[in-house]
Amino acid sequence: MFKGSKIYVAGHRGLLGSALVKRLGADGYSNIVTAARGETDLTVQSAVWKFFNRERPEYVFLAAGLTGGIMANRQRPAEFMHVNIAIQDNVFEASRAFGVKRLVFYGSSCIYPKKAAQPMKEDCLLTGAIEETSEAYAVAKIAGIKACRACNIEDRANRFIALVPSSMYGPNDDFGLENSHVLSAMIRKITDAKREGRQRLTLWGSGEPKREFLFSEDAADASIFAMLNADRIGNEFCNVASGQEYSIKELSSAISRIVEYKGVIEWDISKPDGAPRKLLDAARLTRLGWRARTTLEEGLKETYQWYQRSLCANTEAI
Ligand SMILES: NC(=O)c1ccc[n+]([C@@H]2O[C@H](COP(=O)([O-])OP(=O)(O)OC[C@H]3O[C@@H](n4cnc5c(N)ncnc54)[C@H](OP(=O)(O)O)[C@@H]3O)[C@@H](O)[C@H]2O)c1
Repeated sequence: MFKGSKIYVAGHRGLLGSALVKRLGADGYSNIVTAARGETDLTVQSAVWKFFNRERPEYVFLAAGLTGGIMANRQRPAEFMHVNIAIQDNVFEASRAFGVKRLVFYGSSCIYPKKAAQPMKEDCLLTGAIEETSEAYAVAKIAGIKACRACNIEDRANRFIALVPSSMYGPNDDFGLENSHVLSAMIRKITDAKREGRQRLTLWGSGEPKREFLFSEDAADASIFAMLNADRIGNEFCNVASGQEYSIKELSSAISRIVEYKGVIEWDISKPDGAPRKLLDAARLTRLGWRARTTLEEGLKETYQWYQRSLCANTEAI
């Protein structure tokens, strides 16, 4: 991938896509193409082929897809399955037809068995039952990872790279309570509690489960690293993770510090906790020389600043 190569970032307004555009620009890649969903709906095959025929990208980062928290996954499993499968199938086939040199696709940690040994290695895929709440989304992602492998075998070239990032956060994340993940939902709840002057805030579960979080700019860094090191990766998929694990309670304390919320956080243990631990083993990628660089504190600060700016922009727009 050269500085002048034509690079398509699909999903450029999203959490990861926006981090990719920012990072590629900062690294001097000057020929980046994007398309808003309204202009090119990636679930529609004819629209995707028209776009690829017109733009002829050489490299593709497929950061478009339907993502969401537990509630959205529970309520709309058919949509999660359809949208993700349609997007990846259309973009993979168009990439093959129009001679894309390399493509990076993203799986998700929910592809791994519910009872997988921690930290989860890539080779535990399909060794046990997966979590039911995100089953449709996970099956679509597993299909995507296997499709990358199948294309590489059939085309006799390792052009399709699948990465499995742990839970991401950063600017342009979804902070709506319906669709958000745990970290962005917590930033929103703590920010709201501070603004409303509430002395007490109740959060779901015991706060004991441990999770790891990956700053979107580190995920973008790993994506570019994978694109540049595709030959060394071969026809294998790779986990992408920070390797730093925090309990939900520790996360709430870190966010409270940054938001400067001084109230008391209480835990509603009648609400489900989910898995006690969810940690990815990123040794495959780190052996090749990649590692996450952003601390949770740094990433949270940047995310919170972006969230505040977006709140101000929304208020001004009203
Ligand atoms: N977020 C995580 O924690 C996480 C973790 C592991 C893997 N991943 C995977 O990483 C990828 C990026 O995730 P993300 O969190 O950055 O997602 P995101 O913030 O929700 O952004 C998704 C992007 O996809 C675009 N999109 C959705 N449907 C589309 C369609 N039919 N046609 C064209 N564009 C469409 C959206 O466009 P609009 O802006 O127009 O809505 C948006 O820009 C996804 O494949 C996701 O499954 C995410």
